[in-house]
Amino acid sequence: MHRAHIFVLLGGVVAWAGCDYGFPAGSEPHRELNFINMGDQPKHKPQRGDLLGEQPTGMLAPPPGALATDEVPYTYTSKEGDRAGAELKNPLEPTAKVLAKGKFIFENVCIVCHGPKAAGDGHLTKLFPKPPSLMTQKVRDWNDGRIFHPPMRGQGSMPSHATQVEAHEIWSVIHYIRALQKTESVAPAAPATPVKQQPPVKQPPPADTKAPKATNAPEATGGQP
Ligand code: HEC
Repeated sequence: MHRAHIFVLLGGVVAWAGCDYGFPAGSEPHRELNFINMGDQPKHKPQRGDLLGEQPTGMLAPPPGALATDEVPYTYTSKEGDRAGAELKNPLEPTAKVLAKGKFIFENVCIVCHGPKAAGDGHLTKLFPKPPSLMTQKVRDWNDGRIFHPPMRGQGSMPSHATQVEAHEIWSVIHYIRALQKTESVAPAAPATPVKQQPPVKQPPPADTKAPKATNAPEATGGQP
């Protein structure tokens, strides 16, 4: 009698579990113990509109003015390079590690325009305005904060690099530039040479109008629109 009860009970449990093995359980009946399909319920989806209509998507936007924990806002406008030079101090010491980091960043970001020794002869200068050397007496006399300003805000034809490199990376590049200034000789002060002053590309002779020389055309304008 007692044993029979247990068998009945066990049988009931097996039958119940068997029945509930996904049936009837929505669109995916064969998933194990899928009593209800949890996919079918109100919830946020990252790219979808917010259910309450308060946010444009399910992704929460940071509140206005929010900063990353290690982020220091750069408050100088593009014309305030001299004030940045007077007020900002390089927060890093020129340790071997910082110099190695500065070299790495310089040789990955700045070298294309400024050249391997910052002489203003990077390989992009065939197409892009040539920067002045960073070995001039002018830049040697600049404070670190003044050198920090062009990469942060851009200068003339040099775009800002503030979204590509972190502030501490620029500070380490400045230590690297200082190290180059110790080993390189002082460069003459020279304004950035616009590419238009380069000699014009020779025109092909009239008989040669279909010659492939036409592919030189972009260089003739230096890539300038
Ligand atoms: C796309 C090319 C390009 C890149 C990349 C670039 N620069 Fe420049 N840079 C220039 C040009 C061109 C100028 C001159 C701008 C002007 O005054 O018209 C310049 C000017 C400067 C100046 C001011 C020099 C002076 O005598 O006025 C500094 C400092 C400088 N760059 C630092 C850097 C650093 C550091 C990096 C890397 C983080 C960098 N630049 C990356 C093109 C570039």
